[in-house]
Order: sequence, then structure tokens, then C-alpha cells
Amino acid sequence: MALCGLPEFTLLLLPLLARLSAGDCPCSEAALCQPIRHRPDFEVFVFDVGQKTWKSYDWSQITTVAAFGKYDPELMCYAHSKGARVVLKGDISLKNIIDPTFRASWIAQKVDLAKAQYMDGINIDIEQEVNCSSPEYEALTALVKETTESFQREIEGSQVTFDVAWSPKRIDKRCYNYTGIADACDFLFVMSYDEQSQIWSECIAAANAPYNQTLTGYIDYIKMGISPKKLVMGVPWYGYDYICLNLSKDPAGRFHQVWYDNPQSISLKAAYVKNYGLRGIGMWNANCLDYSDDALAREQTQEMWGALKPRL
Ligand SMILES: *[C@@H]1O[C@H](CO)[C@@H](O)[C@H](O)[C@H]1NC(C)=O
Ligand SMILES: *[C@@H]1O[C@H](CO)[C@@H](O)[C@H](O)[C@H]1NC(C)=O
Ligand SMILES: *[C@@H]1O[C@H](CO)[C@@H](O)[C@H](O)[C@H]1NC(C)=O
Ligand SMILES: *[C@@H]1O[C@H](CO)[C@@H](O)[C@H](O)[C@H]1NC(C)=O
Repeated sequence: MALCGLPEFTLLLLPLLARLSAGDCPCSEAALCQPIRHRPDFEVFVFDVGQKTWKSYDWSQITTVAAFGKYDPELMCYAHSKGARVVLKGDISLKNIIDPTFRASWIAQKVDLAKAQYMDGINIDIEQEVNCSSPEYEALTALVKETTESFQREIEGSQVTFDVAWSPKRIDKRCYNYTGIADACDFLFVMSYDEQSQIWSECIAAANAPYNQTLTGYIDYIKMGISPKKLVMGVPWYGYDYICLNLSKDPAGRFHQVWYDNPQSISLKAAYVKNYGLRGIGMWNANCLDYSDDALAREQTQEMWGALKPRL
């Protein structure tokens, strides 16, 4: 998805599936292995990339955790105790999805994995180039539709979501059927960050997720006919450190320009989410904050979580 993450982990699928057969609930109470059925009006959709910082998250807000790190049964049990869903990461090479049989087996494998891990759905994170008149264009919409059908049939109350770029206007050569995909799943997670990704010429320092540009993305999605209730705003909890070109011959140091979102900028975006009736808010990624015991870090971390709450 973006910087500030850990290398992706590969699940050792087969041994894990064998170990976690039904009746092998890792939680203190068997009820915590039940899928979450409640559908909140407002989503706080959190990406977690692993390790144990989740213990310091603001669980009073979280509704869904997209578990992009190594599977952590303790996280699953804890999230369920707070009424929050835990969903798988879904990624697949688009070359393969034209074949309906391949799609079906991929989906079946994901459903089995979610069941074995007592999870509540899947977040499909493709982020690959698609040409508009290619077979992949239609196959991608079909993949999302079939994934939703299977998950909803096999895991009661499960959630299927799809990650899209900050704007529907062919970002990174992605020509997707956005309205078709939005109709086919619970909601889109809009990655309103890395908004400078279209700059191929000289690298000029700029904001990762400028407010006005962020808003134009939502305006465009809604103009296409996608309901605001199908859109969750993703905000960056990371930034960029640009090293400037040398301004002098002095070798003692370099100028830097650093761009990141803070509680003030996130609050403005959260207000938009509220005022325009979007489905919710979320971030890439929750692990990025400093969860240490340092007093200042604690205060700032609390402010970042607090900024997600729509005011007004
Ligand atoms: C899209 O089309 C262009 C031009 O025909 C081609 O070079 C490119 O490889 C295609 N991309 C994909 C993902 O099929
Ligand atoms: C998008 O997908 C929907 C549902 O499959 C379909 O009805 C619609 O024609 C598609 N739109 C485009 C522009 O391909
Ligand atoms: C953002 O949009 C507002 C309203 O259109 C405008 O007044 C403001 O100048 C814009 N800000 C930037 C930095 O472009
Ligand atoms: C900038 O200055 C450093 C230190 O003197 C030097 O190593 C580097 O090559 C310079 N870079 C440019 C783009 O001039």
C-alpha cells in the first residue's frame, strides 16, 4: 500500500490450516471465535501490519482491522471482544483472474483461510495496472462480486472491501469499473495518500495528501454515482522526507522538506467525512505511531486517534 510498513509476511498456509481445524478456538471463550455480525453505522477501518502495537490502539473506535501482518490469534480474540471485525488481505495477480476456475479456487482458499483463523471477511488490495478494454477489466469486477457472494454465504455477517486510489481518474494506469466494484462489495477504502504518484518528471517536494486534492477524489467518485455510504476515507499516518538539492557547496548538511498529516489536517478530513456522510475513516497504517511510554509520544498518539472522531 505505501511506505512505513514491514515486509509482507507469507503465511505458511497448509500447516496452519491443519492446526486450526474447527473446535480449536484460540480465545479464552469459544464465543470470541464467532464472526462479528453487527454492522456499525460508522466504520473506523484500521490497517495493522504486525507485531503487538495493536494493544495500544483506541479500541473504543475501531470497527474493522485489516490484518496485513502475520496472523495473530491474540489480536483476533481481542478485536472480537471489542466487537471489531478482523479481515484478511486479498491480493492476486490480475493475469490469472481472467480464468473463472482460477478465481473460484482463489476465493475458496481465502474463505477456508478466513474460517480457519476465525476472521470476518477480506480486504482486496490489488493496486495493479488494468487497461480499460482488457479482459482483466471485467474479470476484476467479477472477482469482487464472486468473493462477496462466497464470503457472505460461508461466513455470516462477513465483510468484503476493496482498496482504490485517491481518485478514479486512472491513477497509476488503473482503469477499474469503480461503480461495478462498489456495488459488488460492502465499501471501497479510498487510499487518499501517495497523491504525488503521478509525477514522473522531476521530483518536487509536496504534500502526501493535500486537503483540496483529497476532496476532488471523493467528488469524482460520488459524481460517478457511487454513494458516499460506500466510501471510507483512508488518511496517511506516515509522511515523506524529501532531501533537497544542494543549496550550497557546504558539505556539512542537507536541507530536508518533510510532509506529513497531523491531528489538525486529519481533523479537517474527518469533518468532511462527517459532513458528506461517508461510511467512515481509516488509516495506513495504525502501527506508524509511537506507542512507547514517553509522555509526549503518548499525548501525540492520543491526539492522532482523537482526530479520527468527526467533530461538529
Ligand atoms: C496495457 O496496454 C499497453 C499498450 O497496449 C501495454 O503496453 C500494457 O502492457 C498493457 N498493460 C496491461 C497490464 O495489460
Ligand atoms: C460495471 O459493472 C457493472 C456490473 O457488472 C456493469 O453493469 C456495468 O456495465 C459496468 N460498467 C462499465 C462501464 O463497464
Ligand atoms: C482549496 O480550495 C479552497 C476552496 O475552493 C480555496 O479557497 C483554497 O485556496 C484552496 N487551497 C489551495 C491550497 O489550493
Ligand atoms: C551535494 O553535496 C554533497 C556533499 O558535499 C555531495 O556529496 C553531493 O554529491 C552533492 N549533490 C549534488 C546533487 O550536488
